[in-house]
Amino acid sequence: MASGAKSLTLLGATGSIGASTLDVVARHPDRFRLFALSAHRSAEPLLALASRHRPRYAVLSGLAEDGGLRRRFAAEAGGTELLFGARALEQAASDPECDSVVAAIVGATGLAPTIAAARAGKQVLLANKEALVMAGSLFMRAVAEAGARLLPIDSEHNAVFQCLPGGANPGSAGVRRIVLTASGGPFRATPLERLHEVTPEQACAHPNWVMGRKISVDSATMMNKGLEVIEARWLFDVPPERIEVLIHPQSIVHSLVEYLDGSMIAQLSNPDMRVPIAHALAYPERIGSGAAALDLAVVAGLSFEQPDARRFPCLGLAYQVLREGGTAPAILNAANETAVEAFLAGRLRYTSIHEVVGETLQHVCAGKADALEAVLEADGGARRSAAEHVVRLQGEGRVRRLQ
Ligand SMILES: NC(=O)c1ccc[n+]([C@@H]2O[C@H](COP(=O)([O-])OP(=O)(O)OC[C@H]3O[C@@H](n4cnc5c(N)ncnc54)[C@H](OP(=O)(O)O)[C@@H]3O)[C@@H](O)[C@H]2O)c1
Repeated sequence: MASGAKSLTLLGATGSIGASTLDVVARHPDRFRLFALSAHRSAEPLLALASRHRPRYAVLSGLAEDGGLRRRFAAEAGGTELLFGARALEQAASDPECDSVVAAIVGATGLAPTIAAARAGKQVLLANKEALVMAGSLFMRAVAEAGARLLPIDSEHNAVFQCLPGGANPGSAGVRRIVLTASGGPFRATPLERLHEVTPEQACAHPNWVMGRKISVDSATMMNKGLEVIEARWLFDVPPERIEVLIHPQSIVHSLVEYLDGSMIAQLSNPDMRVPIAHALAYPERIGSGAAALDLAVVAGLSFEQPDARRFPCLGLAYQVLREGGTAPAILNAANETAVEAFLAGRLRYTSIHEVVGETLQHVCAGKADALEAVLEADGGARRSAAEHVVRLQGEGRVRRLQ
């Protein structure tokens, strides 16, 4: 291992992005060294990763102190020190010995450690879009004040970044609009009247990407694209009316930037998250990612279409909260996380996900998002309200079945 290797903290190492990141990292042992790996409660998978990659620290953020586990990590992973609890994530993300943080925790809990990394001036490789959705203004301020570097891993934002000169602010780069592409998910052509009966397994079977269960459901509803519109607003400092979404079922064009002169620049690759991850890890250089080369003659056709607002109501809700501002995006995110969790647990119909989010937005008032505490308070209030809507819709479903 080279002594000049970049030292990485990988938050969410046991997840889908975590696995892709570790795959790229393992291809370049001269360039990268793992400083810390985290999981929530997956102790055995984390131990297997620690044994292979030998980080300085491993973190189990969802477990309390356990001496037995701590000793096993030390013995089986060559001296890796095991830390417990959510605060340890912030510690691993801001340690002076770490250069870059890959933020790949799923959901709102990713916010605190990701913002801690930004405040510590780290290079932040961002997969956890929830951090920007919930607290975009605060997060970007932390990045600017600490001189941190933000590199997007989300494939669409990484594509936009690659299509902008030097990842520049579009306002100064002659940009007319940003076009985010979306696959349309597994239900793009399902008759609307059949959507109420789709199962979690069907929703998680994405046609082009292999991802965690939460983001797979979000891709099916296109809430994921809505969250990405909000993410793009903050990353590239563009207003919502200059961010468009197009369905592109092949998932080959990952996004486009249209310039004032009529030029459009797109980034293309096979749908493999190792491509944007390798780009962000090595930026501004280029390294191998392990992804298969794109053969356009085999792809043959690329098609694009407008999303149908009736099929994908969550997308409209995301534009709505982005225009409203303040804590409204955090409320949307929390309501969606609550609804998706209920859907995955079999407690809510697929078509009720957007109802729960819409009703929560009506019941919980948005305020200013000027402090992390205000954002977290809005998040908590939205979760309580959304949980009530889930229970009510569950009850109504039972009544309908009895009639
Ligand atoms: N997957 C993709 O292709 C993709 C693409 C673009 C963006 N993203 C974004 O990347 C993030 C990760 O997605 P993913 O698909 O990799 O998720 P995932 O496969 O579900 O993995 C989630 C990771 O986060 C950890 N985690 C879960 N709940 C946690 C909590 N409450 N506190 C701390 N850690 C927690 C998990 O640990 P345990 O194993 O212990 O539960 C796991 O390591 C999401 O924000 C997603 O939107 C993903």
